[in-house]
Amino acid sequence: MNVCIIGVGYVGLVTGACFADLGHRVICVDNDRKKIESLKKFKIPFYEKGLNEVVRRNVNSGRLSFASAIKEGVKDSLVIFICVGTPPRPNGEADLSYVENVAMEIARNLTSYHLVVEKSTVPVETGKWVEHTIKTNIRKHVKFDVASNPEFLREGTAIHDFLYPDRIVIGVETKRAEETLRELYKKVKAEIVVTDIKSAELIKHASNSFLAAKISFINSVANICERTGADITKVAHGMGLDPRIGRSFLQSGIGYGGSCFPKDVDAFMHISGKLGYDFALLKAVRKANEEQRVLFVKKIEESLWIVKGKTIGILGLSFKPETDDMRQAPSIDIINSLMNAGAKIKAYDPKAMPKARPILKGVKFCKDAYEAARQSDCLAIVTEWHEFKVMDLKRVKKLMKNPLIVDGRNVFDPKEMKRLGFRYISMGR
Ligand code: UDX
Repeated sequence: MNVCIIGVGYVGLVTGACFADLGHRVICVDNDRKKIESLKKFKIPFYEKGLNEVVRRNVNSGRLSFASAIKEGVKDSLVIFICVGTPPRPNGEADLSYVENVAMEIARNLTSYHLVVEKSTVPVETGKWVEHTIKTNIRKHVKFDVASNPEFLREGTAIHDFLYPDRIVIGVETKRAEETLRELYKKVKAEIVVTDIKSAELIKHASNSFLAAKISFINSVANICERTGADITKVAHGMGLDPRIGRSFLQSGIGYGGSCFPKDVDAFMHISGKLGYDFALLKAVRKANEEQRVLFVKKIEESLWIVKGKTIGILGLSFKPETDDMRQAPSIDIINSLMNAGAKIKAYDPKAMPKARPILKGVKFCKDAYEAARQSDCLAIVTEWHEFKVMDLKRVKKLMKNPLIVDGRNVFDPKEMKRLGFRYISMGR
């Protein structure tokens, strides 16, 4: 099938490359000419495991191409995916102006039937507006359908998540749209959930908000564990064995970040309010998440006594391992608070340092974890990269001025750390 992807950000590029890998002919469009030119030279603007190879393979086979004009992309494509950004406004509401612009531009270029699919995470009822926008800008007698097909890709495992999803959600209003999307995903073995467009939009917002709630819940329980001397990892294990609860997303720590959860929780809260419903639960989810970062800083401050003039080594900057994404990364708030308190910050991240440099002014970036540990009064673990889990802790201890580790991700066993001679402080145990 001929597919056009509009918006070559994270979601668009992964989706486009993977559809091409499934055998479709895909054209990815973005109005950022520089980005398109770089992509043509196989320069991927972010780190995602395996993506480079998938892009290269499909460009070389002629199934994947790039363009900067929507007209060019729309021309021969039966299915058009809208994958542009929906950034948050200051009040938390999703800014849908890119979606609207793209819908108008698509409409002006349609000369025959096309299926326009929203892939970006959007508030419920966006499909209705996309349809309205296209209708008011399209030439007479040209038919089209709108559908919603939310993505559930996790950064770091996006390609795997695309090819082996837990489910494919398609929100459609016509049989033709459903059949087209079924055909598109024919080679992917997963249950296809067919709903109306509004339900599909809600599945996405509700899923991400539920997962965020799970994290805030376990972090709140962790705070009770700390006050009682219980161990959150054991509590989470005991809870997770109940299949109604499930074992995943019960890892307590400094809370969630990234480009999705914080934005989606806010946007869901906002749209709920607009629809006349006060989603109080989500407000609490957000508040609990913010408090975890503050709590982590407090733990560092309390264990150092005086922060001013102390050197703190930060291990991990990206919002989670296996990505270089710094969007809404807890490291930013944490480092800024510590610097405001007068600490000197040394930091290391295996992948995110190029993206972190312009954001984190005044931080000394290190070549590895050991350099971050050298002469530090405290080592703070912010992202649980595998290479930190397998560090030579004896060497780390020797390098530090003071063997204090404050672990925001519960990477190590407290007993073992004590045995090695560290003062070790973690979350909820
Ligand atoms: C998420 C959703 O999982 C995905 O389906 C959606 O399409 C986009 O948003 P992503 O943002 O890549 O994906 O990250 P994810 O792996 O889900 O983790 C989100 C955040 O939650 C991270 O900051 C992570 O550190 C945190 N987290 C996750 C926890 O604190 N504890 C957990 O148990 C799990």
